[in-house]
Amino acid sequence: MQDNPIHRWLNSMLGKQGRSAVLVKALGERDRRRVLRHFLALDTGDRLLRFGNKLSDEQVAAYVAKIDFSRDIVFGVVNRVFQLVGVGHLAFTRRTNAAEFGVSVSGTARGQGVGTRLFQRAAMHCRNADVDTLYMQCLSSNRTMMHIAKKAGMEIRRECGEADAHLHLPPPSPASVLAEALEEQMAKIDYTVKANARLAAKWLLPRR
Ligand SMILES: CC(C)(COP(=O)(O)OP(=O)(O)OC[C@H]1O[C@@H](n2cnc3c(N)ncnc32)[C@H](O)[C@@H]1OP(=O)(O)O)[C@@H](O)C(=O)NCCC(=O)NCCS
Repeated sequence: MQDNPIHRWLNSMLGKQGRSAVLVKALGERDRRRVLRHFLALDTGDRLLRFGNKLSDEQVAAYVAKIDFSRDIVFGVVNRVFQLVGVGHLAFTRRTNAAEFGVSVSGTARGQGVGTRLFQRAAMHCRNADVDTLYMQCLSSNRTMMHIAKKAGMEIRRECGEADAHLHLPPPSPASVLAEALEEQMAKIDYTVKANARLAAKWLLPRR
């Protein structure tokens, strides 16, 4: 039972006691503006941690404009009022059987397991896509990300203030494929309900 990916997924989705479930959904073209808004809300320090550079607003906009949703996978987590509070970007490299992961969580949503869940979903997706290595690059001073990487069992190599982390993934199994499909279905329902609630609130609540 311990090694059952569905069991593991249910446990990780439900998270720690007292935390609400975090559902991770694959984003698409219609979310591009929301992704941009999420990145623009990151302060300079967070942009440095996320992109390795203190990107200006224009550079962030150019980065988001270049995201190819049909090639890379972008995962997101929306909050109760349909704001995108977490974004994980999985970029596939054609030369090696590996994918690179980058993640950010809005300041207001940190410490609730969103970053961890985005990472777990990315690892699950790589496994199911037969990608055997998940790769992450970040500053070694990024203690929160280092903690998440260690918790996931990543091998970490530190050099000149930077850290390269690798996670070797097992091949897919019927249970791992089912676990990802279940999560995506639940996240789609959650996303649609929140999107409609927000639309209804826009129409029904008086404007100030
Ligand atoms: C890194 C980041 C994604 C984490 O997101 P998050 O949603 O807050 O992460 P989680 O809540 O899932 O997990 C945080 C974990 O780090 C731990 N943590 C928090 N601060 C810590 C610190 N200073 N040192 C060590 N561990 C720390 C928490 O206790 C928690 O661990 P637990 O789940 O075992 O209790 C978020 O802080 C962020 O967006 N940072 C800016 C961008 C960035 O650094 N991206 C990573 C580079 S790609």
